[in-house]
Amino acid sequence: MYRRLSAAEAAELIHHGDTMALSGFTPNDNPKAIFRELSKRAIRLHEKGEEFQVGILTGASSCQSVEGDMAVAKAIKFRAPFSTNKDFRTHTNLGEVDYEDMHLGHMAERLRHGFYGEVDWAIIEVSDMVEGDKECRAYLTSAGGIVTTIARLAKHVILEHNQFHNPNSKYLHDTYEPADCWQNRGPIMVLKPYDRLGENYVSIPAEKIVGVIESNIPEEARSFPDVNAETLQIGLNVAELLSRDIQAGRIPKCFLPIQSGVGSTGNAVLKALGTSPLIPQFNVYSEVIQDAVVDYMLEGKVLDASCAAMTVTNEALRKVYDNMDYFSKHLTLRQSEVANSPEVIRRLGVIAMNTALECDLYGNENSSHICGSALMNGIGGSCDYIRNGYISIFTTPSTAKGGTISAIVPMCSHIDSTEHDVDFIVTEQGFADLRGKGPLRRAEEIINNCAHPDYRPLLREYLKLAPMGHEPQHMRAALAFHDTFLRKGDMRLTDFSEYL
Ligand code: COA
Repeated sequence: MYRRLSAAEAAELIHHGDTMALSGFTPNDNPKAIFRELSKRAIRLHEKGEEFQVGILTGASSCQSVEGDMAVAKAIKFRAPFSTNKDFRTHTNLGEVDYEDMHLGHMAERLRHGFYGEVDWAIIEVSDMVEGDKECRAYLTSAGGIVTTIARLAKHVILEHNQFHNPNSKYLHDTYEPADCWQNRGPIMVLKPYDRLGENYVSIPAEKIVGVIESNIPEEARSFPDVNAETLQIGLNVAELLSRDIQAGRIPKCFLPIQSGVGSTGNAVLKALGTSPLIPQFNVYSEVIQDAVVDYMLEGKVLDASCAAMTVTNEALRKVYDNMDYFSKHLTLRQSEVANSPEVIRRLGVIAMNTALECDLYGNENSSHICGSALMNGIGGSCDYIRNGYISIFTTPSTAKGGTISAIVPMCSHIDSTEHDVDFIVTEQGFADLRGKGPLRRAEEIINNCAHPDYRPLLREYLKLAPMGHEPQHMRAALAFHDTFLRKGDMRLTDFSEYL
């Protein structure tokens, strides 16, 4: 049996400047016990005037104990690739954290190629393990992430054996890791969402394992607000556009796999698709599944699902664990490099649905930064899917903050997905089909179908002011909506004459 460590003992082993790579993808499958002690240790050391900061690398966002508490403790030196945590956001926006907002599908390969330097520690949450003399077989919990890669690269490994998880979670995993591109790398042979290629465990050389922390900690999962009239309407609009494409023969009658992004809007859209009579049974090929997919799998509306994480509440996780016979045959948790592989997304013809903070008149999209500067979350895997999807859809309520912000703006204050990758913009007002349209027709469709009526006259006025060109923009007034919001607290007060 490997050495058992308390979480506090494990935290004492970490040095200032170390790079820690973690299991997990979103708040699921993160090692929590060690970080609850590590953030306290950082505070103690800082009080004594000693430096203590580490680099934290994960598959996606992580949980409060990891990135929230560590950010509050000012103990994060570097972080990649994604975060959805409020405390992390606050401290990053104060300029305290060096945060690389990176495509999730690139993370494992960038690590393998040394882009992040050496990995000192892999800290991996497991539901079970085989403690061999030479090899440890580690069974992951509710997410895949980048574990196969970090277990190979890290100098030392600590396992958190979290008995909150059902040891049978092993039957959900496929831990296949692609070869390096210079090793005659072959195709990733996922031809259907349920195809599995590798093992269901992660192999770790026993000599690297410094110890095992025994814990019993529920997932620090987020729950989403219930569907409201606005998000329901967005979901119904998505169902409507997809059904029109089915009728027109642009989507086959057998339908295509769905990807749905993180957040309350994404969860609501998926809920609406599941109840819509216009949408046939479907498969999911996504980086996360949220609660709605678990229910639809149990009801038979969703047949098979593949993802890098179950980003679900503990209640939904319990439903999966209580029905393992079913889910082990229909749900696959993959390493994120495969879940977000451009090759696989394109091959399967995934319908990609993600949420924007704002979109501009020509179809460019911003999901990560408010008014140009302030981080919201990051891009996550949205661009992995949007760029490679068969059809790429951005959803967003047409306004935010009580109508004072328009989600449709003349020019985005930051761009994550470009007009070249976006097929549809959908708000509760309707949808704009951007396919086969140049900038001027796009702008017309977006204003008429997606913008809130309060903002349509302003957007039309802007277009008249912008000097004619292929894609008209007025270089002084393009960010007038944002500037007005920052100065007057309401984009509706935009007066373009101030910018001419
Ligand atoms: N300007 C300023 N604030 C805005 C805004 C805008 N244009 N649009 C929305 N907001 C605010 C909302 O008011 C809300 O604020 P609150 O938390 O204070 O209430 C917050 O942003 C979240 O908005 P909400 O409507 O609840 O959206 P959501 O939960 O559906 O999340 C994103 C939307 C864009 C933040 C989220 O989808 C995201 O992080 N996307 C990027 C990553 C991604 O797509 N990943 C997909 C695969 S992992």
